[in-house]
Amino acid sequence: MTLSVCGLSAVRSGRTILFPTDISIEPGARIGLVGASGSGKSTLGHALIDALQDQGARVAHVPQSPDEALDPLRRMAFHWREAEQALGLPHDAARQHALFRALKIEKGDLRKRPWGWSRGMQQRFVIAMALVGSPDVLVMDEPTSALDPVVAARTMALLEEYLSTRQTAMVLITHDLGLAAQRVARLMVMDAGRIVEDGPTSDVLTAPQSAVAKSLCMHRNWLELPC
Ligand SMILES: Nc1ncnc2c1ncn2[C@@H]1O[C@H](COP(=O)(O)OP(=O)(O)OP(=O)(O)O)[C@@H](O)[C@H]1O
Ligand SMILES: [Mg+2]
Repeated sequence: MTLSVCGLSAVRSGRTILFPTDISIEPGARIGLVGASGSGKSTLGHALIDALQDQGARVAHVPQSPDEALDPLRRMAFHWREAEQALGLPHDAARQHALFRALKIEKGDLRKRPWGWSRGMQQRFVIAMALVGSPDVLVMDEPTSALDPVVAARTMALLEEYLSTRQTAMVLITHDLGLAAQRVARLMVMDAGRIVEDGPTSDVLTAPQSAVAKSLCMHRNWLELPC
């Protein structure tokens, strides 16, 4: 079923940082959200999560850094149990193993604390936690920007493979147009609290219409920068 939210908005300290925004998300959709820093991407992501949860949809969030999701003083096993308990799910070793295998973290030692795992493994663990409740929508806020490009690409490929047989939709907030080009079919461009462009990724990347999309596309490759 297509999920739709209308009139998402946000005002902070008397300033509108998200103007009324409507979004529809089809099952299994791959949507990218790009825009300059401060344009409102994370604000929209959070507003979207709140609105979808209010509708009773299952939504999960993956933050930019595993530090935001993992307490350095708690063992990985604790975090996993907490993720299950937060959704009211009983511990299911088979489900855990399937997710760990899919994200290639089955060799991780759950008795260790986050710093006993590599950063890439921590982030894949956080993604596995987000998938525990088979969400309808997975909102990922720059999920690979703290990882090296090879690990980042591998992580997204593993996630895509896992999702390919499921209905979970993905909203991917990113600064990386290369990642968006590879992973999302639809691209939304934000500028100053508004979605200024929304279309098939290849159209937006090859024929951007708005000034901000043109600027993003022009600067997508360091090798092409004039400085
Ligand atoms: N609690 C707050 N109080 C005041 N202003 C805020 C608050 N939260 C966000 N803002 C402002 O709202 C704007 C949008 O912030 P947001 O974090 O959504 O941008 P973003 O596109 O995710 O940026 P980035 O790419 O750097 O993560 C920014 O100008 C930010 O400073
Ligand atoms: Mg942000």
